[in-house]
Amino acid sequence: MSINQIGLEKKDMTAVIEQLNKLLSSYHIFYINVRGYHWNVKGEHFFTLHPKFEELYTSLQVQIDEIAERVLTLGGTPLHAYSDFAQNSSIKEDKGVFNGNECVRGVVSGLQELIEEQRKLSGIAQEAEDQGTADLVDGYVQEQEKLIWMYNAFLG
Ligand SMILES: [Fe+2]
Repeated sequence: MSINQIGLEKKDMTAVIEQLNKLLSSYHIFYINVRGYHWNVKGEHFFTLHPKFEELYTSLQVQIDEIAERVLTLGGTPLHAYSDFAQNSSIKEDKGVFNGNECVRGVVSGLQELIEEQRKLSGIAQEAEDQGTADLVDGYVQEQEKLIWMYNAFLG
């Protein structure tokens, strides 16, 4: 039996690290989608949505770093190439979106995807007795659930 630097069994970490790298990929694709919404949004809600999307991608950037550093803490190597992110993301690239409501729908569906992925990861982490990873992503889920309510309220 072999344990990593934080007392968790190395063989149990393989699945957790793999899921974290998939999540890291989804975050990167979602991040660049949200930057696209920030840049391209047009219309009467420009001054509301442009800064809201900036707020969102800025927090995604912080979470991206936390996820990658969690992979390292567990003894893995985070993915760090766009080709890998594109291949492993559960969120698809969203190009050429200009309409405000369409941008918001893209945000909502991206958040829903992240939540689903994180709930799954939380279960895998808890099975491996990795409460640290479970707590990290559970916190993100709670935050993103609230964001979905707010963005859906915007849509009416
Ligand atoms: Fe900007």
